[in-house]
Amino acid sequence: MKTYLVTGGAGFIGTNFIYHLFEKYGNNIRIINYDKLTYAGNLENLSKIPVDYIKNKNYIFIKGDICNDKELSILFNTYNPDIVVNFAAESHVDRSISNARDFIKTNIEGTHTLLEVAKNKWLNKNKWEKSKLFLHISTDEVYGELGKSGCFSETTPIAPRSPYSASKASADMIVKSYFSTFKMPVIISRCSNNYGPYQFPEKFIPLIINNCLNNRKIPVYGDGKNIRDWIYIEDHIRAINIIIEKGKPGEIYNIGGQNEIDNINLVKNIIDIIAKQTGININYSLVKFVKDRPGHDYRYAMNISKIANELKWKPKYSFIEGIGKTINWYIANRNWLNEIVNGEYMEYYKNMYENRMG
Ligand code: NAD
Ligand code: TYD
Repeated sequence: MKTYLVTGGAGFIGTNFIYHLFEKYGNNIRIINYDKLTYAGNLENLSKIPVDYIKNKNYIFIKGDICNDKELSILFNTYNPDIVVNFAAESHVDRSISNARDFIKTNIEGTHTLLEVAKNKWLNKNKWEKSKLFLHISTDEVYGELGKSGCFSETTPIAPRSPYSASKASADMIVKSYFSTFKMPVIISRCSNNYGPYQFPEKFIPLIINNCLNNRKIPVYGDGKNIRDWIYIEDHIRAINIIIEKGKPGEIYNIGGQNEIDNINLVKNIIDIIAKQTGININYSLVKFVKDRPGHDYRYAMNISKIANELKWKPKYSFIEGIGKTINWYIANRNWLNEIVNGEYMEYYKNMYENRMG
């Protein structure tokens, strides 16, 4: 029975990944979800895991910090995971601009701590235990920004421009160094902007949906012309699985949605779809252009030919399909959304957005 250590499993992508693993492998695997439960971690997300899986220890939750080497060593000695998937991170650019401290700590120091503990457990007398893998989940943002044309490939030099992306790029370099230096079985995946169920509504798409549902203004940074390549969460999760099954240690794989759109058109599309799907009376007057994000990366776009050619993965969801499913999920789960936005989120929102809106 394979044991997965999923760090940050109570966050957006980790939650979707855990559900996907159980859907695919049922009780033939064991998942340890190790999460610090920061503002972005929510155990409620995982409440649909069957009780039997918890009783039979197919699913184990441990509240902990990836910076804590003592706790991680105990975890590795107890369960000796086969596959580590490191999602744990501080993940929001705007928060990294306000205060980068936790980003440096978790994203760099935490990743290094996790690597060290795994190395100490898996490397014995200069030999690596068989069938181990450390998959580090990274981002397209490490490559910096693009102009109107071109796209990032795995050989594009990294050139991060925000404290968030700089912390992720630093972690990537440390992870890579463990392959060059120790031949540790590590892989790095770098994905473009995700959207889908369970995403914290500080990120743009759930924020737009939440504000539409509450008839609240939607803050669009700068002129709204910045471009992102949006990928539906299920496509990202499928890519991660294929990388675990067929990826080559030491390699980096780009993952992207092949779906570039600028922010203002993204907002307008979502307003149109929500108005149509729900019948609520909203229109583009909800758009409010606000002060730009400092150092706002203009455009991201991914060249995915490596993962397409070598691992036979490409995204399946069109934007229309993915966003339709996402909107339906947020409408059906308004309690989930309300619980979050009623908590400390509102304080955050007020500072971050209402100040920006002037
Ligand atoms: P998220 O912010 O929703 O979740 C992060 C999770 O990590 C939370 O559950 C949080 O409690 C946990 N965590 C934070 N610090 C921790 C620590 N020190 N120890 C243990 N757990 C800790 O993030 P997400 O959107 O799910 O992103 C997951 C990973 O994917 C991140 O590494 C992010 O950089 C990367 N990524 C995200 C996107 C995206 O669009 N969301 C795109 C590419 C890559
Ligand atoms: P975000 O979801 O924060 O992801 P990232 O910055 O990591 O790409 O933002 C996506 C895009 O949307 C980015 O160009 C910034 C923009 N944006 C807004 O215009 N308004 C907002 O309120 C937010 C959160 C983001």
